[in-house]
Amino acid sequence: MKILLFADPGIDDSLAIIYALLHPEIEVMGIVTGYGNVSVFDSTRNAAYLLDLAGRSDIPVIRGASQPLSGIPTTFYPEIHGPQGLGPIVPPADFQADVSPFELMFEIIEENIDDIVIVDVGRQTSLAFAFNLRPELMEEVKEVYLMGGAFMVPGNVTDVAEANFWGDPIATSVILNKAQKVYITPLNVTNRAIITRDIATYIFNHTNSPYKKLIPEVTNYYATFYDQVMPGLDGSPLHDVFTLYYLLNKDRTYTVKRDVRVAIVDGNRGQSIADFRMVYKEPEREHYIAMDFNYNHFIEDFIRINLADGGELA
Ligand code: RIB
Ligand code: CA
Repeated sequence: MKILLFADPGIDDSLAIIYALLHPEIEVMGIVTGYGNVSVFDSTRNAAYLLDLAGRSDIPVIRGASQPLSGIPTTFYPEIHGPQGLGPIVPPADFQADVSPFELMFEIIEENIDDIVIVDVGRQTSLAFAFNLRPELMEEVKEVYLMGGAFMVPGNVTDVAEANFWGDPIATSVILNKAQKVYITPLNVTNRAIITRDIATYIFNHTNSPYKKLIPEVTNYYATFYDQVMPGLDGSPLHDVFTLYYLLNKDRTYTVKRDVRVAIVDGNRGQSIADFRMVYKEPEREHYIAMDFNYNHFIEDFIRINLADGGELA
């Protein structure tokens, strides 16, 4: 499966990048970075650094948007993702990120239009720009996956809004209106896609992957934040990893088709809305929402992919 990955690494974005790179069924065609968890400067360096660690600098890193379409000043989250976005890890000061121009994204899509899918696990501004700049091409992309929203559960940035949809609800609306088919993995599923400290340690003890040390370091950092907001979890949610898992495991995930919209106005900015009444209007657009999944299958898959060397899960 060829994917173009939009991300704002960010801890769980980093784990998603690692999962995609290690997954034998995923071919990462490029990473488009953006502001969000951290600045676009840091997220771009982090993406390039993760590729470098695995000797995969052949994958282009494309720098995307630095702020939302609204122009409203953005908030970064060093208290959650660390000073530069990789928890306690800071790329070496002399590390140079090799950055490709935005235009390359269109070349990648054009050359692979029959089988490329887009996965966006960050604020969706860069992807909305793409739909604005090359609508005829972008509307040809068969599937778009978005990590975002929160259906029938609270948000994580406000009482109603999840961070990616809240960060740029105008951008999210553009994508919901323009994309051929959108699959959404919201907080109601991703909040339950937990990696515990024990699992991080298990991976450390059993893998030879280039990310062996990084996995427990970043996940334990993330877990320390979640200790405060969700006491007792003893771990942290793999929001962005789940979106990639979903891409390959839709048949194992309970999904509903609903028209989705996102509130743009202050007060309920970023709220994701869909009709969950027993009797609802037949959806007009191709929007699909992940609602439930098999946790054991998810976490075993995550561990197996991170073992990377073909090591067997005990
Ligand atoms: O709200 C969850 C999203 O924000 C994820 O994409 C994750 O990166 C987080 O920080
Ligand atoms: Ca993210």
